[in-house]
Amino acid sequence: MEGITEKINKLKREKNAVILAHCYQNAEIDEVADYVGDSLYLSQMAAKTDADIIVFAGVYFMAQTAKILSPDKKVLLPRLESGCLMADMINLQQLREFKSKYPNIPTVCYINSTAEVKSECDICCTSSNAIKIVDSLKAEKVLFLPDTYLGKWVESKLKGVEVITYPGYCPTHLRIKAEDIISMRKKYPEAKILTHPECHKSVTEISDYVGSTTGIMKYAQESKAKQFIIATEKGVYDRLKRDLPEKEFIMIKDNIICPNMKWHTLDDIYNALLHEQHEIDVEKGLAEKALGCIDRMLECSNKSDNLPSTPGRGRHVVPGEGFK
Ligand code: 13P
Ligand code: SF4
Repeated sequence: MEGITEKINKLKREKNAVILAHCYQNAEIDEVADYVGDSLYLSQMAAKTDADIIVFAGVYFMAQTAKILSPDKKVLLPRLESGCLMADMINLQQLREFKSKYPNIPTVCYINSTAEVKSECDICCTSSNAIKIVDSLKAEKVLFLPDTYLGKWVESKLKGVEVITYPGYCPTHLRIKAEDIISMRKKYPEAKILTHPECHKSVTEISDYVGSTTGIMKYAQESKAKQFIIATEKGVYDRLKRDLPEKEFIMIKDNIICPNMKWHTLDDIYNALLHEQHEIDVEKGLAEKALGCIDRMLECSNKSDNLPSTPGRGRHVVPGEGFK
């Protein structure tokens, strides 16, 4: 009898569809995903795919970004409940109020934001290119939203730029506390502590490495260390444990899980492909305005970043052959 993976792969071929999956997804999604990676990598893939249908196993803003980048393609989000709590912390009116307090300052929005918000920002960024994007503006002051912790982390890495941040945050990453890092250090003195920049400053300051989802995975892969504490969403830990069995990975604490990322199951992906549901649409005028903000990021990012090619930085899966 045909299993769910085979059924999905068959539909993918019939419909010329591609599945993009974020690293926070349930790990079994990788069995059918064509590309697995962080938000920068997935937006690069959404922009260049020649598939007719993109199934996005991620959160709403990611599918919306894919639609803006590939307006002629059908973009499907298997479960519509998959929002991002941080992205929902700022709407257009709140953005306008924030900007009006600081006139004539360039505005950088984290990709974790709505199309409406992107449409009125100068440039977008992800956690893997935020430092480069802010630096590229060559400004003394920059407005950054919605994530105050990512913005302040960028400021700490750059000299001579004041990053004025909007008070948004990720509830999942803020569950990680400085005391968790201190107690894990005591318990595992040899381990490297790898942290996402959405974490609180008191956490990033005392970590060994701070970087995006795939930055963390690449660090673990290339490091000579054998033991790592993972201070980000559990999906990263699940993939590292699976992909690097010769190394030891320990979650910083239980329940560092983004509930919205975990909605999609293989059944949902199958139904999304079969019924071509739930289609994400962005009004043309709005999409064109938001595209400028995303395109400026991709252009700046592409100047020196090659697409990830190492395991853990996005894998192309050939059905039946496993990961490459
Ligand atoms: P990445 O840019 O590392 O994929 O992070 C996206 C995100 O939502 C983290 O919470
Ligand atoms: Fe949004 Fe946080 Fe979930 Fe990332 S982990 S998608 S920032 S709520």
